[in-house]
Amino acid sequence: MTRYSAVSTDADADAPPSPTSSSPSLSAASDLPLSQKLIKVIGNVCFSFFVLAVLVVTVVAVTYQPPDPWLSSSAALTNSLSATLQNSTFRPDDSVLPTGEDLVPLNSSLIPVNSSSSPSASSVPDLVDSSSMTASEEEAASESCDPDKPVNCSDPRVLNAVKAFNQKAFTRRSIIFLSYDTPVPGSKPGECDVAWRFRNRKEKSWRRYRDYRRFHLAPGDNCTIEVSGVGKFRSGTNAAKPRPRTRSPASSTPVRVPDSEINDTIPTVGSESEFKRGKYLYYTRGGDYCKSMNQFIWSFLCGLGEAQFLNRTFVVDLSICLSGAYNPWYGKDEEGKDFRFYFDFEHLKESASIVEEEEFLRDWRRWDKKSKSGNKISVRKVPTYKVTPMQLKKDKSTILWRQFDGPEPENYWYRVCEGRAAKYIQRPWQAIWKSKRLMNIVTQIAGKMEWDYDAVHVVRGWKAQNKQVWPNLDADTSPDALVDKMTKIIPPWRNLYIATNEPFYNYFDKLRSHYKVHLLDDYKEMWGANSEWYNETMELNGGKPVPFDGYMRVAVDTEVLYRAKTRVETFNNLTRDCKDGVNTCYRQIKR
Ligand SMILES: *[C@@H]1O[C@H](CO)[C@@H](O)[C@H](O)[C@H]1NC(C)=O
Ligand SMILES: *[C@@H]1O[C@H](CO)[C@@H](O)[C@H](O)[C@H]1NC(C)=O
Ligand SMILES: *[C@@H]1O[C@H](CO)[C@@H](O)[C@H](O)[C@H]1NC(C)=O
Ligand SMILES: *[C@@H]1O[C@H](CO)[C@@H](O)[C@H](O)[C@H]1NC(C)=O
Ligand SMILES: *[C@@H]1O[C@H](CO)[C@@H](O)[C@H](O)[C@H]1NC(C)=O
Ligand SMILES: *[C@@H]1O[C@H](CO)[C@@H](O)[C@H](O)[C@H]1NC(C)=O
Ligand SMILES: *[C@@H]1O[C@H](CO)[C@@H](O)[C@H](O)[C@H]1NC(C)=O
Ligand SMILES: *[C@@H]1O[C@H](CO)[C@@H](O)[C@H](O)[C@H]1NC(C)=O
Ligand SMILES: *[C@@H]1O[C@H](CO)[C@@H](O)[C@H](O)[C@H]1NC(C)=O
Repeated sequence: MTRYSAVSTDADADAPPSPTSSSPSLSAASDLPLSQKLIKVIGNVCFSFFVLAVLVVTVVAVTYQPPDPWLSSSAALTNSLSATLQNSTFRPDDSVLPTGEDLVPLNSSLIPVNSSSSPSASSVPDLVDSSSMTASEEEAASESCDPDKPVNCSDPRVLNAVKAFNQKAFTRRSIIFLSYDTPVPGSKPGECDVAWRFRNRKEKSWRRYRDYRRFHLAPGDNCTIEVSGVGKFRSGTNAAKPRPRTRSPASSTPVRVPDSEINDTIPTVGSESEFKRGKYLYYTRGGDYCKSMNQFIWSFLCGLGEAQFLNRTFVVDLSICLSGAYNPWYGKDEEGKDFRFYFDFEHLKESASIVEEEEFLRDWRRWDKKSKSGNKISVRKVPTYKVTPMQLKKDKSTILWRQFDGPEPENYWYRVCEGRAAKYIQRPWQAIWKSKRLMNIVTQIAGKMEWDYDAVHVVRGWKAQNKQVWPNLDADTSPDALVDKMTKIIPPWRNLYIATNEPFYNYFDKLRSHYKVHLLDDYKEMWGANSEWYNETMELNGGKPVPFDGYMRVAVDTEVLYRAKTRVETFNNLTRDCKDGVNTCYRQIKR
C-alpha cells in the first residue's frame, strides 16, 4: 500500500482525472462536503476508473521496480555495470567482464551466515532423508562397531563424517554445501566416493555446481567413523554419475557427465492463437552487430529493458557476431556465434519474457499467410530511435518492429535508451549471466586450487603500449615491478592466479620463484578436445567444434579472479595510472 501511494503521484499525470479526486476522498470528505457529494454522484463511474488507475499504477510499479526480491540495490548494480560498459569503454578491452551474477547483491538473510555451525545445518534439505538415517544408524552402529570390519559406504555414519569434514575444511573457502548424494564405494575397501552440490559465496547467482571426491575412512573409537584422507577436486569418479544410474562402478576409466542441469533449449511459441495473443518487440540488427561485446550487452539490455517497459516479449537473435578484436591472432569478425556460448540462455528465459528470432519469424510468416485480410497480424514499424518508448506505450499492435537502417551511430540499439527514455527504461542487468558451461570451467580451475588462492589482474596489451594515455602502466606491470609489488602484498608460496591479457606465457616467470603461479593456459585441457565443454558446445553448434575464443578467455579469467581470497588490481594497486587514461581517476572514484 505504501508503494502504491508513493508511485501514484507519478501516475496521476497519465491517468484519467477522476482517480485523483476519488482516492484521497477519505481525508478530503470532512473538510469539503461538496466534493463528498460529488464523489457520491459519480462514485460508480469513478470506481471503474479507479480500477483502471490501480492497473496503471501496477504497470508503473512493475516497470520501475526490479521484480526479484533479492535484488536489494538495483541502483548500485546499474551504476557499477554502467561504469564498466559505458560507451567510452566500448573499445574491446582486456579488462574484466562483470555480468549480472557478479554484481547483484545477494539477500544476506538467505545465506547461512555462521559457517562454523553444525555440519548438517545447510540451508537446503539434504537429499538423504535424515529421519530414516537415524533409525538405521543405531542398527548399523550395533552391528558394525567392529573396528576390523571394512567401512560400508551406505552406512549413514559415513555421510555424517564426510559432512562434518567438509564443513570444517571448506567453509573458510567460501563454499556453501547444498546437498549430498549417498556415498558409493571407491576403488578399494575403506574408500568411499561422495558427490555433493555447492555454491560459492563469491558468486552471487544461485547456480549450483557439483563436486565428487574420494574419501578414506576408518572406524574410530566409540563406534565413530573418521575421515583419514580426502582426494582432490572431482576425484571421486565413482560418484560422478547421478545416483539412479548405477552401472559397473568398477570400470577404471573415469566417467564424466555433462552438466545435466543446463536446459537452454529454444522455447517454442505454440499455437497460432497463442502467438496472436502475445505482444512483441522486435529489433532488427543494427550498427551494434560485430561491435565489442560490451556494446552488445549495453544495447541488448536496452532492448530488453524497453520490452519490459512496454510489457512486451522481446525477440532475441541468438546468432551473434564476435568482434575480431577478441581474437587478435585471427583478426576478423566472426558471425554465427551462438549467444549460448557466452551467456546463460536458461537464466534469460527465466528472468525475462523472450522469444527466439528464427522461431518468431517462422511463426509470424506462417500465421500471417494463413490469416485472411482483416485478421492479419498487426505490425507497427518504427523506423528511427527518435520515436521514444513512451510514445509506443499505448500502441496496440501485436508486433512493434524497430528498424535500425540509418548510418552509424544512428543505428545503434542503445540510442533508444538515451535522453528522456533513460528515466523510464531500466536495463535488466540481472538477466545477463555468463554461460553455465563457462562457469563450470571456472569452478574446475578454482577447485583445482582448492579455492585457496590469491589473484592479480595484470592489464597490458594496447593500454601498456599507449604511453601518452597510460604513462606508467608498462613499467608498473614489468616482471620486476610485479615481483616487487606482489611480494609486499601476498605471502610467499601461495597459489597465485594471474588474470591477464598479456599473450606471452613466460612473461610472469620471475614470479615463479615466489609463488605457485597459475595462468589460464595451464588449464587448456578444460576446453580441449576431450573436455565436457568441447562436447557440449559442439552439440550446440550443430556438430562443429567451437574454438575457445578471446571473449571466453576474459570471461573465465574474470570469474576466477573474483573468487580469489586476495585480489590485486592493476589500476589502484599496481599502478597509479587511471583506468581510462590520464586524469580520469577522479571520475572513477566519484562513481
Ligand atoms: C502484460 O501483458 C500480458 C500479456 O501480454 C498481460 O496478461 C498482462 O496483464 C500485462 N500486464 C500489465 C500490467 O499490463
Ligand atoms: C558517449 O557518452 C558521452 C557522455 O558520456 C556522450 O556525450 C556521447 O554522446 C556518447 N556517445 C555516443 C555515441 O552515444
Ligand atoms: C531477504 O528476503 C526476505 C524474503 O525473501 C525479505 O523478507 C528480506 O527483507 C530480504 N532482505 C533484504 C536485505 O533484502
Ligand atoms: C557461530 O556459531 C558458533 C557456535 O555454533 C558460535 O560460537 C559463534 O560465535 C558463531 N559465530 C557467529 C559469527 O555468529
Ligand atoms: C552395506 O549396508 C547396506 C545396508 O545398510 C547393505 O545393504 C549392504 O549389503 C552393505 N554392504 C556391505 C559390503 O556390507
Ligand atoms: C568414548 O566415549 C567415552 C565415554 O562416552 C569418552 O570418555 C571418550 O572420550 C570417547 N572417546 C572418543 C575418542 O570420543
Ligand atoms: C527445458 O525448458 C523448457 C522450457 O524452456 C521445457 O519446456 C523443457 O521441458 C525443458 N527440458 C528439460 C529436459 O527439462
Ligand atoms: C565427448 O564425446 C565423445 C564422443 O561422443 C566421447 O567419446 C567422450 O567421452 C566425450 N567426452 C566427455 C568429456 O564427455
Ligand atoms: C588495492 O587498492 C584498493 C584501493 O586503493 C585498496 O582498497 C585495496 O586494499 C588494495 N588491495 C590490495 C590487495 O592491496
